[in-house]
Amino acid sequence: MLLEVKDLHAYYGASHVLQGISLDLDQGEIVALLGRNGMGKSTTLKSIMGLVKPRSGEVVFRGKNIAGYPPFKIAREGIGYVPEERRIFPNLTVLENLAMGIKAGKAKDSEEADVWTTERIFVHFPVLKTRGDNKGRQLSGGELQMLAIARTLMGNPQVLLVDEPTEGLAPIMVKEVRDVLEEINSVGVPILLVEHNFKVAMSLAHRLYLMGKAHIGFSGTAQELNEHPEIKAKYLEV
Ligand SMILES: Nc1ncnc2c1ncn2[C@@H]1O[C@H](COP(=O)(O)OP(=O)(O)O)[C@@H](O)[C@H]1O
Ligand SMILES: [Mg+2]
Repeated sequence: MLLEVKDLHAYYGASHVLQGISLDLDQGEIVALLGRNGMGKSTTLKSIMGLVKPRSGEVVFRGKNIAGYPPFKIAREGIGYVPEERRIFPNLTVLENLAMGIKAGKAKDSEEADVWTTERIFVHFPVLKTRGDNKGRQLSGGELQMLAIARTLMGNPQVLLVDEPTEGLAPIMVKEVRDVLEEINSVGVPILLVEHNFKVAMSLAHRLYLMGKAHIGFSGTAQELNEHPEIKAKYLEV
């Protein structure tokens, strides 16, 4: 298993927001984490990334427990994180924003075949190529999301954590972002996806986890979930 979260507990002050989260992600997979607002999905990603320090439990990445490491170290271990708020630098160009992603990530031997370059990014994100010299603040919501994903890829992550990538986007851009995630996965990047759009998650994910308050309530495939409408009703707004 590439990434294994084991019995993770996290707090904000006295508030026990993750109460024993266990999930895993293997090579090649897209795994979705779904649930209503405030259940702890974003906190789960932040805890994996070290942005929220887990109180107990393990985050085992490629056989090593990295729980408690600082975020920059976790990034260098090979975990890429695309936060919900995207954090594109408004006064830097698309190319400059992409360059920022190199430093944040893992240093790789440039002879490695799967290293990400701007040329390779533009193959999968053609919209960014046409916008290369535009500033972050000139981009649309969909373009910003594309850039946020692409910038994280520039750090050559071995797994991508993506928080609500289609949130607030026009339907056409929802589809484009969905398709780009599928494409990135097909060229070898496993993805742990937090998604509010149920259709997008069901169409992308090989497996899903549904969160109730601070815990995982269901784990299985899209087909298994479709066979259990009562589980959907319990954990999702559908
Ligand atoms: N920085 C924070 N400080 C205190 N409480 C927070 C903070 N961020 C989130 N929370 C609370 O933690 C719980 C889980 O939040 P979050 O992980 O953002 O949920 P989700 O992503 O599933 O909507 C919620 O009750 C939320 O209000
Ligand atoms: Mg969230």
